[in-house]
Amino acid sequence: MKIVIGSDHAGYRLKESVKNFLVGKGVDVEDVGTHSEESADYPLYAEKVARYIQDGKAERGILICGTGIGMSISANKFRGIRASLCTNEYMARMSRRHNNANILCLGSRVVGEDLALSIVSAWLDEEFEGGRHLKRLTIIEEWEGGKGSC
Ligand code: RB5
Repeated sequence: MKIVIGSDHAGYRLKESVKNFLVGKGVDVEDVGTHSEESADYPLYAEKVARYIQDGKAERGILICGTGIGMSISANKFRGIRASLCTNEYMARMSRRHNNANILCLGSRVVGEDLALSIVSAWLDEEFEGGRHLKRLTIIEEWEGGKGSC
């Protein structure tokens, strides 16, 4: 599996930790920045990660800012993106099993490094369950350009 990862300045350090963690697990990681703690606008990195996934260049993505909120708001503007802000392992597992989340958002000022890595690990372990959950995602997809789009 290929994972694309991005952050703003607030998420930079945690992004580096998550990236090293993933590489250590043998995951193919593409880092779209930012590459320092110099102030950076989170929507620009959310866009890079979202478009990478939309273009089929990675299956999943991880976005990190201070709270994870700005990244999740931004990424969810892109068609086909299901970005989930997770602050614990349970949310990470459910975001895969029930919501088929293709982007995990983390808040570097909310979760410590150890918890963040546990969340990432849980998120990687789980698969979408489909069934009744697929029907619900189809309703959301219809908003994205099909009948009843908004
Ligand atoms: C940057 O200070 C901060 O606003 C940003 O990282 C993020 O938390 C926004 O949602």
